Amino acid sequence: MKKTLLTLTTAVMLGLSSLYAYAADPIVIKFSHVVAPDTPKGKAAEKFKALAEEKTKGAVKVEVYPNSTLYKDKEEMEALQMGAVQMLAPSLAKFGPLGVKEFEAFDLPYIFDGYDALHKVTQGEVGKSLLAKLEPKGVKGLAYWDNGFKIMSANKPLKTTDDYKGLKMRIQSSKVLEAEMRALGANPQVMPFSETYQALQTGVVDGTENPPSNLYTQKMHEVQKNASVTNHGYLGYAVIANKAFWDGLPAETRTGLEEALKESTDFANQIAKEENDKALEAVKASGKTEVYVPTEDEIKALKAALLPVHDEMAERIGKDLIDSIKKATEAK
Ligand code: LMR
Repeated sequence: MKKTLLTLTTAVMLGLSSLYAYAADPIVIKFSHVVAPDTPKGKAAEKFKALAEEKTKGAVKVEVYPNSTLYKDKEEMEALQMGAVQMLAPSLAKFGPLGVKEFEAFDLPYIFDGYDALHKVTQGEVGKSLLAKLEPKGVKGLAYWDNGFKIMSANKPLKTTDDYKGLKMRIQSSKVLEAEMRALGANPQVMPFSETYQALQTGVVDGTENPPSNLYTQKMHEVQKNASVTNHGYLGYAVIANKAFWDGLPAETRTGLEEALKESTDFANQIAKEENDKALEAVKASGKTEVYVPTEDEIKALKAALLPVHDEMAERIGKDLIDSIKKATEAK
């Protein structure tokens, strides 16, 4: 009797597992983001989709939703935690509301001299330890994808620090960015990325900051007369997943996705600079925005105005973290 029951159970289990192997619907990953498909993040998300589907031999289907078509900035974080979407790549400036304010260290003005210095952090121990801070929030930190260095824009020339005084500037939801704009005498306004174009167009805000790829693909240059290539701060992304979903994947599937992630991360970080260079050229060629390159002295003055933000924000972000970022960037 016992034996028959066992055989029956085994048969049912085998039946079920073969059903999963041959007839189950693919596991669907909804990957939501807020930028245009034709940006470093948009292209990397598509690359991830193709690689993930190929490497898992169709066991996974990735649905990419660009341009805030599913969720805006704050909502997408909540949707990920609730499991309504499985993957996102929010900007590092948007983790404060989740309770992980350490990522705002990436927003500190002039903390990275360029991509090489930045990669020493994102691809090293400091970057890894920051991703680990997401786990208690039910979020799995998977990788860093680059965008680029930000330029300032408005409807007036932005040359000296005085030019920013009194301007209403749209920023992402980061206290560091708030402090940055205040240090320039500007008035920071946090608003979702998807609402920025209209806010600029209708004059709800006067200006903003973003890497050229975002400015151009959202057509912000059509409603901003001036831009200044200040390169005063970095904008990049953490690729994240719902932790329960990720940990619950069959091991083989997860391995396939990890390989896809590794390759799409290399791709993202290879194309980011060129995409931004091309976007800046396209903004210039449009003739709609006058693009100004500040002189060395003007950059010096900007740095003098903005660097005090590092100390001002040390308590919020952690002085030790800021120091370890600086140490990593200076390492040979
Ligand atoms: C922004 O809100 O300006 C950016 O974070 C958008 C993005 O995802 O690049």
